[in-house]
Amino acid sequence: MSAPLVEAAGLAAGYGGPPAIAEVTFSLDPGERVGVLGPNGGGKTTLFRVLLGELRPLSGELRAPGRIATVAQTERSRLDFPVSTLDVALMGSLDRLPWWRRPGRAERRRAREALELVGLGRLADASFGELSGGQRQRVLVARALVQDAPLLLLDEPYSGLDAASSERLTRLLDRLAAEGRGLMIATHDLEQARACDRVLCINRRQISFGPPELACTRKVLERTYGGELVELPGSGLGVPPPHHHHRHEAEEEAHGR
Ligand SMILES: Nc1ncnc2c1ncn2[C@@H]1O[C@H](COP(=O)(O)OP(=O)(O)OP(=O)(O)O)[C@@H](O)[C@H]1O
Ligand SMILES: [Mg+2]
Repeated sequence: MSAPLVEAAGLAAGYGGPPAIAEVTFSLDPGERVGVLGPNGGGKTTLFRVLLGELRPLSGELRAPGRIATVAQTERSRLDFPVSTLDVALMGSLDRLPWWRRPGRAERRRAREALELVGLGRLADASFGELSGGQRQRVLVARALVQDAPLLLLDEPYSGLDAASSERLTRLLDRLAAEGRGLMIATHDLEQARACDRVLCINRRQISFGPPELACTRKVLERTYGGELVELPGSGLGVPPPHHHHRHEAEEEAHGR
């Protein structure tokens, strides 16, 4: 057994007021996909910020010894200035180069390889702003791969993707996990979460952590979503759709609507 990529015990964090998240206790092994499920404001992004070292824990213990790469929640629409797809993938090499060195031939080769890996090699010279949402998401995964970190945090990577793009992204993430990377995937989609190896449910405090059949029971989901949980005819339970305030505004602006 190799050592966990993350181990957290009793973690709490916040922004000065009452903690935004508390009692977070979980671990993530190489090759494992952990789905992070919770309502708007439940603390998914806050948890990622703690793992990335952007927020200091108020209490608890955290061990995350390796490098961590991330695809942030709003990045897909924010990176709308005129850069090529290859440039975006190349950004992944910046934090590994000494400050006086610009990305060179070796870095460009790695960026192209990462684009090939996510199935976008032929779009390397296309403008990032012209890509579809699903393609942009895969470019950002490529950029994370260029960082060559054993752990990837993806904050709502499926939001706004159609079924075909989601399917492609899932296959890509499954492959990365099969190669031994750890993946943490924040989502509002119960089915996406259930497809992960383990699930962490959070609503200001951790509600559950474990394999989906134990961590996504009706009781847990009721505690995670409160009265917002909806009954679906036939298939059981549905979680409420998220409000994607900031992101959609930005995307609509970007498309001149
Ligand atoms: N920069 C900040 N300053 C103060 N409070 C914040 C900040 N960012 C988040 N919060 C608060 O922390 C809580 C958790 O927010 P967070 O963004 O982590 O939730 P989330 O689960 O990612 O939600 P969403 O599904 O909408 O992305 C919320 O109450 C939010 O208002
Ligand atoms: Mg969030």
